[in-house]
Amino acid sequence: MTTQTEPKTMSGEEMVALSKKHTLYEWAAQSKVDPIPVARAKGIYFWTPEGKRFIDFNSQLMCVNIGHGDERVLQAIREQADTLAYANPFMATEPRARLGAKLAEISPGDIDVFFFTNGGAEANENAIKLARLATGRHKILARYRSYHGATAGSITLTGDPRRWAAEPGLPGVVHVLDPYHGIERGWDSAEESLAMIDEVIQLEGPHTIAAFILESVTGTNGVLVPPDGYMQGVRQLCDKYGILMICDEVMAGFGRTGEWFAINHWNVVPDIITMAKGLTAAYVQLGAVGMRRKIADQFKDRVFYGGLTYNSHPLACAAALAAIRVYEEDGLLENARKMGALMADLMTDLQLRHPSVGAARSIGLFGLIELVRDRSKKIPMAPFNGTSDEMVALGKHFRQEGLYTFVRWNTFFTNPPLCITEPQMREAFAIIDKGLEITDRVVG
Ligand SMILES: Cc1ncc(COP(=O)(O)O)c(C=O)c1O
Repeated sequence: MTTQTEPKTMSGEEMVALSKKHTLYEWAAQSKVDPIPVARAKGIYFWTPEGKRFIDFNSQLMCVNIGHGDERVLQAIREQADTLAYANPFMATEPRARLGAKLAEISPGDIDVFFFTNGGAEANENAIKLARLATGRHKILARYRSYHGATAGSITLTGDPRRWAAEPGLPGVVHVLDPYHGIERGWDSAEESLAMIDEVIQLEGPHTIAAFILESVTGTNGVLVPPDGYMQGVRQLCDKYGILMICDEVMAGFGRTGEWFAINHWNVVPDIITMAKGLTAAYVQLGAVGMRRKIADQFKDRVFYGGLTYNSHPLACAAALAAIRVYEEDGLLENARKMGALMADLMTDLQLRHPSVGAARSIGLFGLIELVRDRSKKIPMAPFNGTSDEMVALGKHFRQEGLYTFVRWNTFFTNPPLCITEPQMREAFAIIDKGLEITDRVVG
């Protein structure tokens, strides 16, 4: 009898062909996708099977915050797999116990009770469920320039065009405008934006609104750092009307902005906080909803109607504990601040030298550049929810030169792992610098 064994390795071409044939790619017409085959990764780099190296300047999906292949996390996962790979969520386990306690230590204010999920979307689903149960109200305010996940409820909370195909969605979600209106119109002041939110609250009826969910620093919709006073003002409005404030820190949390959580920059404590991505640095999938004691107390004698087979998965909790240790041992929050200052300088330098750079924003190692084809009128290099030949050409340049990052509409992201060094940062910016010559050519 002969036994057939699977060949050990595939070429990049085989990986791409078979992945495209039998699996569906996200947010795309399948004939248009052109995935990079990835064989291995270490630190800020990943490689194709043929050995082409990429700088991972987006930490994959803004999630591998500690960098790839950290032996301390891998070892913790192996040890946990050997000891107890799974226990159902009605059990108590050591990684679950330790992770809850650790998160209570690093989360803002008196947030010290957590419910674990498989990722960010489920964290937001459970956050709004908690808010509705806790307040007895049903409406949820969310913002237009936002992404909160792709499950039924979270995609309704999402304000960006990814929501459209899922409509009508969850009843009771009301979107408000952001302080930012795109590169041509720019920013409102905190006061103007807060007045608009207050008006919407009045029009909807404050007593009908359970929660306001917002990204502390908006991620894929533009790395939008709120004007000072905005977050404090949202907190005040929520307090005034008995509305719960939910901060979505799925992308902005875990050191990305130089703090454990981005909301710490404004000394505001939300009632509920959601996290995922950097929580395990994506070594294993895990999300969490953190809540203040007063919310958890509501479920002392009442049932919390929520559950997931993989809630508090031991492998994921062990990975999160090990990842958090890495952030601490390696001083990654400090490095994010230090390298973030360098990145901000390099971005300013690009803005001075390249006419196509219309805006450059960053906080810590969370950054984005907006490109324009006319600097005085600030006409974006690609329209809202669209692309252009120039943006496509820029994306091709990055790929050819071995720099991986997200290129979206008229923007591209600068979100490297938090372990990046100065020479690595300069190497990435040299590739960006050269690429911007392509977009400069069309500036009128
Ligand atoms: C701010 C924010 N919230 C929620 C999500 C959804 O997380 P997940 O894809 O893990 O469900 C994302 C994903 O990018 C996000 O950026």
